[in-house]
Amino acid sequence: MTSIKIAIDGPASSGKSTVAKLIAKKLGYVYLDTGAMYRSATYLALQNDTSLTDERAIVKLLKDYPISFGRRKDDSEQLVFVGDVEVSHPIRENEVTNNVSTVAALPLVRKTLVDLQQQLAKKGGIVMDGRDIGTVVLPDAELKIFLIASVEERAERRYRENLEKGIQTDFNTLKKEIAERDYKDSHRKISPLKPAADAITFDTTGIDIAGVVNFIEKKAQNIIDRS
Ligand code: DC
Repeated sequence: MTSIKIAIDGPASSGKSTVAKLIAKKLGYVYLDTGAMYRSATYLALQNDTSLTDERAIVKLLKDYPISFGRRKDDSEQLVFVGDVEVSHPIRENEVTNNVSTVAALPLVRKTLVDLQQQLAKKGGIVMDGRDIGTVVLPDAELKIFLIASVEERAERRYRENLEKGIQTDFNTLKKEIAERDYKDSHRKISPLKPAADAITFDTTGIDIAGVVNFIEKKAQNIIDRS
């Protein structure tokens, strides 16, 4: 059976990672969370008191503490490491979340992480989620999906997610932060958040996870069957 590449892009909390993970599981593909990589770079800079705009220093940190992924034994949940340190939880904390757009706008950091992402996708059989997967990282992906949802609904989703993880947040602050992050991610000079010309845009406002997964899985299956 042919293994394809699936790119899932969209703004913060549009449901990308939840959906991407489920599709990867259904198809037996690898799932790669590229947001976790930009978050890890931000975490490294903050931990090492490195300026968030010093791209050379951050790239050096990424060389010294390479990003890798693993699986938790009991529930197969994806784990993120920098060097030997597991950072799956710390990279979701507010300090990282509120600074990641600055680090993600640095050209040298993007180049370093995009190279790594392309390396990991070489064999196909991958579902990757992010902001520039369909436009820059995998322009040859057989299926490109761009997920959107209202700011209100996305803030609600992140609020619930945070509660489950034990992270305290104020709903209105969250809404403001999401809108700000959207603005920064879509207006940066390099690889701004935007759908690829050949992407399917899907508004998930009011649609549950199963509905979104079904839609994408059908599209993927069609492509796999035809190739
Ligand atoms: O999906 P996320 O919220 O974990 O992403 C964290 C940040 O990383 C987000 O503000 C934008 C940036 N990002 C990016 O610029 N390119 C990607 N491919 C993935 C994420």
